[in-house]
Amino acid sequence: PRPILLTRHGESRDNVRGRIGGDSMISDSGELYSKKLANFVEKRLKNEKAASIWTSTLQRTVLTASPIAGFPKIQWRALDEINAGVCDGMSYEEIKKNMPEEYQSRKKDKLRYRYPRGESYLDVIQRLEPVIIELERQRAPVVVISHQAVLRALYAYFADRPLKEIPHIEMPLHTIIEIQMGVTGLQEKRYKLM
Ligand code: G3H
Repeated sequence: PRPILLTRHGESRDNVRGRIGGDSMISDSGELYSKKLANFVEKRLKNEKAASIWTSTLQRTVLTASPIAGFPKIQWRALDEINAGVCDGMSYEEIKKNMPEEYQSRKKDKLRYRYPRGESYLDVIQRLEPVIIELERQRAPVVVISHQAVLRALYAYFADRPLKEIPHIEMPLHTIIEIQMGVTGLQEKRYKLM
């Protein structure tokens, strides 16, 4: 069995400012994580010649992957963060204050709520289908560096978690979730690097 390593990008400048979406760089702390992650991956996958690193097309995942040496890197648009549409770049407080109805509808049904001109969790789950097919086809380990909403959906697929839980799954920063399909089901290890 081969492992799949899931991780969010290192902390971004927008994470620090409390803004959603965008395409910001990583913070100093995010950069430190990128180095620790590279160290971890290079050791963990030392004898795995065919392993690969998958990122989204956004700077924060590409920058997080950049110190990792020795493996091919592939960018997937399907791994980009949930598109917050008109709310892109706003903080949750701003949405609550300026668009209270949107805020309330999302709170009521976070799975189905679609940001105006953006996406819902259900949309994200649907666009992940080709990524999941390719992940299952791969025989070698894959490191997936992506975003909170996307990783919730990917993790839920492999861990067989119910749809309605997906938007609420905890997906901490600076932590690697290693999953592996064994004969007895999913095996999971977590590495909190900082
Ligand atoms: O910017 C998007 C966030 O990573 C998704 O978090 O779905 O809990 O608002 P949320």
